[in-house]
Amino acid sequence: MAEFKVAPPGAPVSQKFMTWVDNRFPATKLYNEHLAEYYAPKNFNFWYFFGSLALLVLVIQIVTGIFLVMHYKPDAAYAFASVEYIMRDVPWGWLVRYMHSTGASAFFVVVYLHMFRGLIYGSYRKPRELVWVFGVAIFLCLMAEAFMGYLLPWGQMSYWGAQVIINLFAAVPFIGPDLAILIRGDYVVGDATLNRFFAFHVIAVPLVLLGLVVAHIIALHEVGSNNPDGVEIKAKKDPATGRPLDGIPFHPYYTVHDILGVSVFLMAFSAVVFFAPEFGGFFLEFNNFIPADPLKTPAHIAPVWYFTPYYSMLRAITSQMMYALVACVALGAVAIVLRTRLNGLLKAVVLGGAVVTIAAMFAIDAKFWGVVVMGGAVVILFFLPWLDYSPVKSIRYRPTWQKYLYGVFVVNFFVLGYLGILPPFPLGERLSQIGTLFYFGFFLLMPWWSRIGDFKPVPDRVTFAAH
Ligand code: HEM
Repeated sequence: MAEFKVAPPGAPVSQKFMTWVDNRFPATKLYNEHLAEYYAPKNFNFWYFFGSLALLVLVIQIVTGIFLVMHYKPDAAYAFASVEYIMRDVPWGWLVRYMHSTGASAFFVVVYLHMFRGLIYGSYRKPRELVWVFGVAIFLCLMAEAFMGYLLPWGQMSYWGAQVIINLFAAVPFIGPDLAILIRGDYVVGDATLNRFFAFHVIAVPLVLLGLVVAHIIALHEVGSNNPDGVEIKAKKDPATGRPLDGIPFHPYYTVHDILGVSVFLMAFSAVVFFAPEFGGFFLEFNNFIPADPLKTPAHIAPVWYFTPYYSMLRAITSQMMYALVACVALGAVAIVLRTRLNGLLKAVVLGGAVVTIAAMFAIDAKFWGVVVMGGAVVILFFLPWLDYSPVKSIRYRPTWQKYLYGVFVVNFFVLGYLGILPPFPLGERLSQIGTLFYFGFFLLMPWWSRIGDFKPVPDRVTFAAH
């Protein structure tokens, strides 16, 4: 047990109170470690707003979610009507609901930008691998949370979207059909599905999400933040104080700085909530204003915008595309055997693994591989810290051609997203196949391309111009 501290005689009541608390709970210690004496690099730029904004949206979602649950009915017979009741009769219900539905999309906007910052500044690299890994786990939870939340209003898109995605699990060999029944709790999407999705959406996933966010921030504060230069500020410390020379206390500097980000965000958020909550059918799909009807399939079923890049990848995996994937697996195995310094046994394992994979690719339906590709597109992000072999972290010091490569990656992601909104058509299918190959190629070939080119010298200290 830590030594009991005593406030000096005549100290103000507030100090006495804090001493009393600190002897029982490390309030001041936590405040210092995570705010007042957490030294963050002084050269943070606009990209560093999105972490605190993600926290803000998380709070908005939890608070509005609590108020929605007070009036929402998780019952297939009442769910749709209870949402309409919230919109029309509950005082301010429309605001709470629109904040929650807009918040879902805002979450993905903010988190995609936050992840992109990590990508371009190499924030996932040593020693921040676990910050990144927790981040990807958060992203997976967020996707599960959004998917299950979308079933709750029990509209046509809720119903048929869930139907399509749950049916995908049925494509898993051997256990697929049973797995789909386990998820649905019935042979078709129904009341049982709604109830279990409700349980996961309001308590199970948010609990995991909160735990992961805490782990994410503890891991970050253990190693310290990266910055746009990718220079480790802990490498240059003031010998007298032991503080990083390029670090400034998070509070008050970045707490005040983040108020700017929060203000701009809230303006954009309010503009959408008050003037365009459906956002042209992107945030709330028009078909979802029609109650779920198991007997009437909508002409075109499309997921919400934040899932569409992955949905495109799913649709890209046709039986024809399987030949291209088989060729990729074979080429990849040959390249590993010929171009790496693995020992003979490991090379044999790689070749054997490739033969087994190719056999499975011919034996199992393309639909299953579509699911594997869709899931793999997110899972591959976990491995990013071990795929990048570049001698520098930040994009600022990478060869110019690599900057264009990142640019193409972004454009490709948008194109995949756009194609995922449209009904299938032959050219779109071909484009999404090329886009899928590029997406995976970007990551899987990173160990090779990330070391090539003329890297610019990385400065000793961060670059910073006072403004
Ligand atoms: C609920 C979602 C999330 C919340 C609340 C959150 C929160 C934060 C906060 C507050 C920071 C410190 C401030 C900043 O650097 O912007 C941070 C840093 C970071 N986050 Fe997240 N995050 C979330 C999701 C993610 C995801 C999905 C990823 C990646 C897949 C990720 C990767 C990172 C990385 C690599 C850093 C360190 C950045 C650096 O030091 O340059 N985060 N996060």
